[in-house]
Amino acid sequence: MRYVFGNWKMNGTLAFAEEYVNKLLGEVRPASVQVALFPPFTALSSFQYLVKDSFLKFGAQNMYYEDSGAFTGEVSPVMLKEIGVDYVLIGHFERRHIFLENDEMLMKKVEAAHRHDIPVVFCVGETLEERRTGATKDVLKRQLILVQDILSRGDIVAYEPVWAIGTGVTPTMDEIRESISWVKELLKADLPVLYGGSVNKGNAVDISEVSGVDGVLVGGASLKVEEFAIIIKAFDQNI
Ligand code: PGA
Repeated sequence: MRYVFGNWKMNGTLAFAEEYVNKLLGEVRPASVQVALFPPFTALSSFQYLVKDSFLKFGAQNMYYEDSGAFTGEVSPVMLKEIGVDYVLIGHFERRHIFLENDEMLMKKVEAAHRHDIPVVFCVGETLEERRTGATKDVLKRQLILVQDILSRGDIVAYEPVWAIGTGVTPTMDEIRESISWVKELLKADLPVLYGGSVNKGNAVDISEVSGVDGVLVGGASLKVEEFAIIIKAFDQNI
């Protein structure tokens, strides 16, 4: 099984989501790829109806680690469970860098998701400076150290080099293979590891051929339904 996941970030109204999902369901019928979308919270609860009885899965882009309480602006695992999410993204670089989520906080989020049986897509990745100074392996190790024992069957890890996210620049296929194999070495369980960062319809086939890559987490290109469909097909063919 391979995975093509689309992270919409802070994009996509409810009307956009309805039109997109209907189009996507008409356009692809993947045989060997699991497809999931991560829309913003305002559209998320409608996904339980939009994707009903289809191959399409859906998840949240973030969540807090308490079940309820005085946490203005946050959404809890209980709420996500109620609408039937298939996954929650934890530790995306924008959460780490813009919203200053640290490794301890992310571990609590993973534990909270597990308490409620919500599979996690846990994101890791080095900055350009860290890559330039040869610190990539150490950084990935540090980002995984608190969660490597608790990530378990059903969870997924996404390797997303920060410098490739939204930039149009991707690592070489060798660099992707090396980092993904290092992440797999660090994990205690045998989990799928996805690549993320400027995946598009032009590089999807090449990335799908890199050994060890179990799929992709797509940002910008997942907002264009035709392009996302091409990426799904690239992974569905190259099994
Ligand atoms: P991008 O984003 O595909 O737009 O680079 C990837 C991500 O942030 O998950």
